[in-house]
Amino acid sequence: MFNHTKGTKRLAARVVKLLAGAALVFGGAAAYAGIAATKHNLGASTGSNVNYMTTGTTEICVFCHTPHASNTGVKAPLWNKPVNGGVYTTYNTSTSATIDGSVSMTGVSLACLSCHDGTQAMDSMINGPGSGNYVAGGATISGGVWTGANQTAGKMNSNTVAMLGTDLSNDHPVGIQYCGGGISTGSASTTDASTGTCRDPDFTTPQNKIIGGARAWWVDNSVGTAGNREKTDMILYARAVTLSGDATDGFYQPFVECGSCHDPHNSTNATFLRIPNAQSAVCLTCHNK
Ligand code: HEC
Ligand code: HEC
Ligand code: HEC
Ligand code: HEC
Repeated sequence: MFNHTKGTKRLAARVVKLLAGAALVFGGAAAYAGIAATKHNLGASTGSNVNYMTTGTTEICVFCHTPHASNTGVKAPLWNKPVNGGVYTTYNTSTSATIDGSVSMTGVSLACLSCHDGTQAMDSMINGPGSGNYVAGGATISGGVWTGANQTAGKMNSNTVAMLGTDLSNDHPVGIQYCGGGISTGSASTTDASTGTCRDPDFTTPQNKIIGGARAWWVDNSVGTAGNREKTDMILYARAVTLSGDATDGFYQPFVECGSCHDPHNSTNATFLRIPNAQSAVCLTCHNK
């Protein structure tokens, strides 16, 4: 028979090891606080998340990641939640006369929005904590009770800015090509040299490097080492552009997503920002204004 206590302990030990590993990786950032003490800890052991806490589990990662049987339909690592495709009204030419980039909601922002659009309970998971809790379409933790003022049955409700909703036309564009319409040269190849410049010179030219066999892009700022992709850089997410009729259609290009500005694991800087936003340093990393 499966010894539940032992299994749980073993898992706990693994998580501790995983966290120790994470601490090593993040070791460079001395002030790294850890996700347990952030608003992204939704479990019963919550540190600072007074609004969203379920009695269903004390695990932390499980609300977003699973080690097995994850959702490969979204470009987020080992994702443990269903995501909404095609329901979003985006920031685009109907809301701005000056926008240049191609917008398509297929990237990692869908993962953030699986909670922040308010349509789905935050404990809706594909592979729930423990054994035998796999449900392909996602299910909430049985017996879990949500506490806190800003939720309704574990869904973000409309009382907060954090609940972005499905209308994103009033939010900074996400799922949008970087550089004000992309990089001047390129191809459909994921390893293309892409030595071009920003089509719109109002943007900082991104750094790029082949990482793990494909070209990765980011925007360097004054934090960390120039020329290295780091968690304190503005991370860009590469995929093919879908802009019919444009010269870059089908090209593999960098995009801005929620994770470009936010690191969901680290609230050393307010609101999970990758760098402090004093003097609007986040904005000025990308925009030359
Ligand atoms: C609230 C949701 C959420 C929680 C909770 C969460 N993550 Fe993540 N994690 C994400 C998202 C979204 C990404 C992809 C973001 C990106 O591309 O930077 C990610 C990326 C990662 C990555 C790869 C990129 C990186 O930053 O290193 C690792 C490793 C990771 N998570 C580990 C963990 C572990 C371990 C835990 C639990 C201690 C955890 N995460 C909890 C949302 C979460
Ligand atoms: C599992 C659900 C879940 C996912 C997935 C998730 N979040 Fe959150 N997030 C929350 C909750 C709950 C809060 C707390 C909201 C509140 O207190 O009003 C929060 C708060 C935040 C805040 C505000 C923090 C503050 O100090 O006020 C930011 C920024 C944020 N999330 C960004 C992200 C980003 C970016 C992603 C994807 C990389 C993401 N979240 C994914 C649940 C989630
Ligand atoms: C271009 C950068 C950028 C992108 C992209 C971005 N954010 Fe933010 N976000 C910010 C900044 C900066 C703040 C803090 C605003 C301030 O301090 O005035 C913020 C604040 C927030 C907050 C806190 C809101 C509040 O007032 O309580 C949440 C939640 C949030 N972001 C979620 C998201 C999600 C989810 C996405 C993707 C759909 C996203 N952000 C994309 C820059 C960004
Ligand atoms: C990761 C890079 C990045 C960061 C950081 C960033 N932006 Fe942007 N921003 C973009 C891109 C790309 C666009 C789309 C521009 C286009 O295609 O014309 C954009 C669009 C905008 C627009 C709309 C422009 C239009 O023509 O309608 C405004 C306004 C804006 N950003 C302000 C900000 C502010 C304020 C901040 C800081 C809170 C910020 N941005 C941070 C990349 C960034």
